[in-house]
Amino acid sequence: MGDSRGGDVKQRFATTQELVVAARQRLDDNVWDFLTGGTESEATLARNRQALDELALRPRVLRDVRKVDPSVELLGCRLRLPLFIAPLGGLTMFDPEGTVAVARAAPTRDTLVFQSSTSLPEIEQGAAAANGRLIYQLYVRGERDWVTAQTERAVACGSRALCITVDSAAYSRRERDMISRFTGGGGSHRVMTSAGREHQAAFNWGDIAFLRKRFPALPVIIKGITTAEDAGLAVEHGVAAVYVSNHGGRQLDHGQGAIEILPEVVDAVRGRAEIVVDGGFVRGTDVLKAVALGATAVGIGKLTGWSLAAAGTAGVERMLDILEEEIVKDMMLLGITRLAELEKSFVCAARATALPSALSAFPRIGADGKWRR
Ligand SMILES: Cc1cc2nc3c(=O)[nH]c(=O)nc-3n(C[C@H](O)[C@H](O)[C@H](O)COP(=O)(O)O)c2cc1C
Repeated sequence: MGDSRGGDVKQRFATTQELVVAARQRLDDNVWDFLTGGTESEATLARNRQALDELALRPRVLRDVRKVDPSVELLGCRLRLPLFIAPLGGLTMFDPEGTVAVARAAPTRDTLVFQSSTSLPEIEQGAAAANGRLIYQLYVRGERDWVTAQTERAVACGSRALCITVDSAAYSRRERDMISRFTGGGGSHRVMTSAGREHQAAFNWGDIAFLRKRFPALPVIIKGITTAEDAGLAVEHGVAAVYVSNHGGRQLDHGQGAIEILPEVVDAVRGRAEIVVDGGFVRGTDVLKAVALGATAVGIGKLTGWSLAAAGTAGVERMLDILEEEIVKDMMLLGITRLAELEKSFVCAARATALPSALSAFPRIGADGKWRR
């Protein structure tokens, strides 16, 4: 497996920790902070990891686990692993090919890529690279006519569903970027530009009802649900999937850790829609904890960005391969051969062992993203 930046990717990256350190080396300080940081005090960001770390696994033993199948079906699409690539804006800051470089990894690893409406190049190129394994993620930047036109465009490209992000009524105060006066390259990466944000602030349940009526056959996913109340409303509005997310700690600060929210959402949804989640997931064990608590699949955000920065498409593919190795071994060690066997009894409350942060799942990496002894 070659990499345009030289070397054999499998040799260069035996662990995800090496992908993260390579990203730190390649990215300048401002872009690293944009990718790695969160909002204000970064409490939500840290809690994503803390909530994962405060769950321990309860493995079963003496079962025949020679053949393990970690695949899963999400919205009618078979995924090799119970995970997908979360929507990420600003990808051209991490790799010149941006969204295309990420999308290309989806068909080679049988996953799904969510394409951000703020990422470049446009959906048409991303969809071609993803070869049908793509879901378009929408930020609302216009009236209903504009939303309709964007949705039609996504459908025309073969998007399997429409993912509407609803946790971004305002662009939060990302203080790392504010302190460095970083604006994402003067708008050339589109992600930090503000034109039309007032439409997102106005967007409400009536607009979801409108979209469901206008596109009855199109599965809708609402991304950014963090309460049982809103999960219930989403189901009443006929969504296909509830996407539990606090935006990786990049929107409202002082929220709950994402996996902490999962049980109340599972109770509220009562099997009437699929449930996916993201926020802090970087390990096979993290992913399996979410599946045990009732999620179908987990979105991978920052780790995708780091892997892309480390080695382009080959880096993202390597990340997915490492996660597969972790998940298969973890399933064997948990005593299960299929994900359907995972349920609540496989997890229990525990004390976290490390101070939580975006990088705390990587014991050899310091807070600055560099190797430590
Ligand atoms: C650099 C970056 C850009 C993002 N851009 C978007 C976006 O355009 N749309 C969106 O819905 N979420 C966006 N998110 C949030 C992710 O989709 C996801 O919710 C979050 O990254 C998950 O947490 P994790 O980074 O800890 O995996 C972005 C996240 C990052 C790190």
